[in-house]
Amino acid sequence: MGNPNRPLVEALLKFNAAAPVSFHVPGHKGGSLSGLPADLRSVLRYDLTELTGLDDLHEPDGAIAVAQRKLSSFYCSNQSFFLVNGSTVGNLAMIYATCSVGDTIIVQRNAHKSVFHAIELTGARPVLVSPGWDEITKTAGTMTVGQVCEALEAYPDAKAVVVTHPTYYGTTGADLEEMIRACHTYGVPVLVDEAHGAHFAAGDPFPRSALDMGADVVVHSAHKTLPAMTMASFLHVRSELVSTEKVAHYLQMLQSSSPSYVLMASLDDARAYIEAYDEEDKVLLMERRLAFMEQLATIPGLQLVESDDLLKLMIRVKGCSGFKLQKELEAEGVYAELADPYQVLFVLPLLKVGTDYPFEEIAKRMGSAITRLHLVGGKQDVLEMPLLNEGISQLIYTARELAQMETEWISYDEAVGRVVAASIIPYPPGIPLLVGGEKVGDEHIQSLTSLRQMGAKFQGAIRVNEGQIVVVKEGTEE
Ligand SMILES: Cc1ncc(COP(=O)(O)O)c(C=O)c1O
Repeated sequence: MGNPNRPLVEALLKFNAAAPVSFHVPGHKGGSLSGLPADLRSVLRYDLTELTGLDDLHEPDGAIAVAQRKLSSFYCSNQSFFLVNGSTVGNLAMIYATCSVGDTIIVQRNAHKSVFHAIELTGARPVLVSPGWDEITKTAGTMTVGQVCEALEAYPDAKAVVVTHPTYYGTTGADLEEMIRACHTYGVPVLVDEAHGAHFAAGDPFPRSALDMGADVVVHSAHKTLPAMTMASFLHVRSELVSTEKVAHYLQMLQSSSPSYVLMASLDDARAYIEAYDEEDKVLLMERRLAFMEQLATIPGLQLVESDDLLKLMIRVKGCSGFKLQKELEAEGVYAELADPYQVLFVLPLLKVGTDYPFEEIAKRMGSAITRLHLVGGKQDVLEMPLLNEGISQLIYTARELAQMETEWISYDEAVGRVVAASIIPYPPGIPLLVGGEKVGDEHIQSLTSLRQMGAKFQGAIRVNEGQIVVVKEGTEE
């Protein structure tokens, strides 16, 4: 107890302090009927519901309302919302609030699959903007102002521009503020998937938040970089172009009517954590991070790559794919966020004074893993990935049109020139290699083959073992 700056956490503590007897849902009755191990069961005491004193996410006027106002005040929004279904539901709600069937929406091509799902559900027509290649992280980067202006010129009736800022790898791009200003001169709102940037609001040395740069709606996966539980996320509206009421309306429809109080309490706590994050905390984080990097730099063959966001760190070993490196690190109990052909990606902890992390021990284990890789040797297994750059493009068919067509599974070799019937998504990071309705090119098949050979995992319209993807049946196209 004792932190009045977390109104929802306080409300839960106060409720339980009165030793309440449950004749309400959930059925585990405060955990007493649960067969979970004791440490897991202990949290169920706080897994409560809309009881007197605990407010209601969908009609807040008590502790949740106060907690959300504190959130809004810290992030300087007009209104902020707790999300209990990840940034996924935030992306859905912001696109529902701005687009409907047939509307044009301009989208950064390396957007998360939830953005494409939202477009599919609303029936909007996406205009895809291919970002440039970011040489530092060896991944797709961000759109330029020039590209977005070109897309707006070509599609002046666009209802929104969707930006991913930063990318999964922490790349922010240099000109988001100018891009937002340009979109606003066209009267088009900018919706920012800032899933990986909830901590940016702590200020320098972190990159600037899109909210600070004038974005209309911003979504944060608090669970990715703040100390919040998985799925716990935020959505902020600060706009004259997007209706807060519409966003709230869609959140009501898309989120559970029984939102988890444990998740919401962890959001309240995460906001208090980042709000209190001060200069001393930043100094501590920078010192600990630097010491870790210095130790890693002594491991022969290891290459460190930094990105715009201090919390993201890429680790490469010459001649070895990220997938293989990831496996070897896991054998030492070190789990990276993801692997790709070139590297593994670490998400570092947002340490503050009074917290610590076993960096020295981790670096030692990483040293053992990498030495083992060198000992095993063998041929180089990093396959070069072809650059995918489609410029500004539209889908040949929207998801709704595809739904009316017949499809068939064919092998990769026969797929060039055909229209893919659903998205193919290497996961993580969850960014489509092909969006359903796009034409398959040589470079897509080369990427797919290389990723498969290196052990990447996929979601979507792909049978990895059989080497097949699903395409529109020829002759059935409209
Ligand atoms: C850029 C981006 N946006 C959105 C999401 C979805 O976030 P969540 O897992 O919070 O639903 C992710 C998840 O990895 C992501 O990387």
